Amino acid sequence: MVLLRGDKDVGTVCGLQIRSVAKCGSLSFAGLTKCSTGWCNARANEGERHREMRSEVEKTVIRLNSGSKLPVLGFGTADFPFDRLKVEFAIRTALQLGYRHFDTAMIYGSEPAVGGALMEAIRSETVSREDVFVTSKLWGCHHHDPVSGLKQTLKNLGMEYVDLYLIHWPAKLKEWANYVMPKEEDFGELEMESTWAGMERCLDMGLCRSIGVSNFSCRKIERLMEHASLLPAVNQVEMHPMWRQKKLREFCGEHNIHVSAYSPLGGPGSPWGTKAVVDNPIIRSIASKHKATPAQVALSWGLSKGVSLIMKSFNEERMKENMGALEVKLEKEDVLKIDKLEERKIMRGEFLVNASTSPYKTIQDLWDDEI
Ligand SMILES: NC(=O)c1ccc[n+]([C@@H]2O[C@H](COP(=O)([O-])OP(=O)(O)OC[C@H]3O[C@@H](n4cnc5c(N)ncnc54)[C@H](OP(=O)(O)O)[C@@H]3O)[C@@H](O)[C@H]2O)c1
Repeated sequence: MVLLRGDKDVGTVCGLQIRSVAKCGSLSFAGLTKCSTGWCNARANEGERHREMRSEVEKTVIRLNSGSKLPVLGFGTADFPFDRLKVEFAIRTALQLGYRHFDTAMIYGSEPAVGGALMEAIRSETVSREDVFVTSKLWGCHHHDPVSGLKQTLKNLGMEYVDLYLIHWPAKLKEWANYVMPKEEDFGELEMESTWAGMERCLDMGLCRSIGVSNFSCRKIERLMEHASLLPAVNQVEMHPMWRQKKLREFCGEHNIHVSAYSPLGGPGSPWGTKAVVDNPIIRSIASKHKATPAQVALSWGLSKGVSLIMKSFNEERMKENMGALEVKLEKEDVLKIDKLEERKIMRGEFLVNASTSPYKTIQDLWDDEI
């Protein structure tokens, strides 16, 4: 996996390629100094510092197997209950701060807000379309026809293409089931071969720049590879210090499939998430050693594993705090301590499991025993 800052390949640390890091024992990003008290108070010249950090966030990208450049810090937009004005305001703020990768999905209901705020910024020439990276996802009710699913997404966004289109979950639903919690009668038979062929068609038609999957186990990717003409560029999965995805990262690494981490903070405060990560005593002690916050330590740990991060905050101070993870220097011993934490998956996908109509009779079926 190649991490780029601007167009420069910047070397190798812990599976990331990074050039010009002074000492390989540190997991910092080249050219960035250690933050003394987190993002905001580190230097007297705040304006200058914000500009530097903004430029760092904009330029830190990963080259996908499709050739596209994925900004390593992604801005999540799933929020329940959903408030369009709140999301639009958050995206405008995020753009100003330097976030360039926006993660949405038809099922979040956030596509119109994401597209509205981004297109407004593009029309006013604050950013160009090429400067922003938009990811959206195919819900189960569109597995029978990904092209029509993506056309609906593009209409919602008011855009001509998305940068990355993902199969949201490996589950096909009936055409009417465009809601989060499918009922027993909503499940269809899984036909991944035709769904993936539809994803490839989306790419051929220029409706997206890269295609990928989400919530796929190693086994499911292996099965996909038996019939795919193109490999997924990305597998977006839950990953944080307490759900580390070691096997999946190794498997994806061997096949040049980039792993993107959702819920990289463990979702503190979200209806599905937990504070277990940010409240973990080991994470807190590492944070206090580095004069960083627990959230920054969790995110910095993710970066040390070579993944991109999709985190959600609609609070400006926390948006800045999360960007500050790029400059937290974890030491090898910190990473080793985190790698020994007890694991606990948050997003288990129970809503796709039932004993009668779902292809997944148990949670273990859904994750192919990789849980
Ligand atoms: N592919 C999938 O199936 C899938 C599944 C889940 C999520 N996702 C994507 O991943 C994104 C992020 O996931 P997520 O929301 O589950 O997890 P997350 O980013 O780990 O956590 C978000 C929660 O943490 C809070 N937070 C953010 N920064 C914080 C900080 N520095 N300190 C303390 N709390 C902080 C946020 O509240 P505030 O807003 O108040 O800051 C929010 O409640 C989603 O928005 C979505 O785009 C994808």
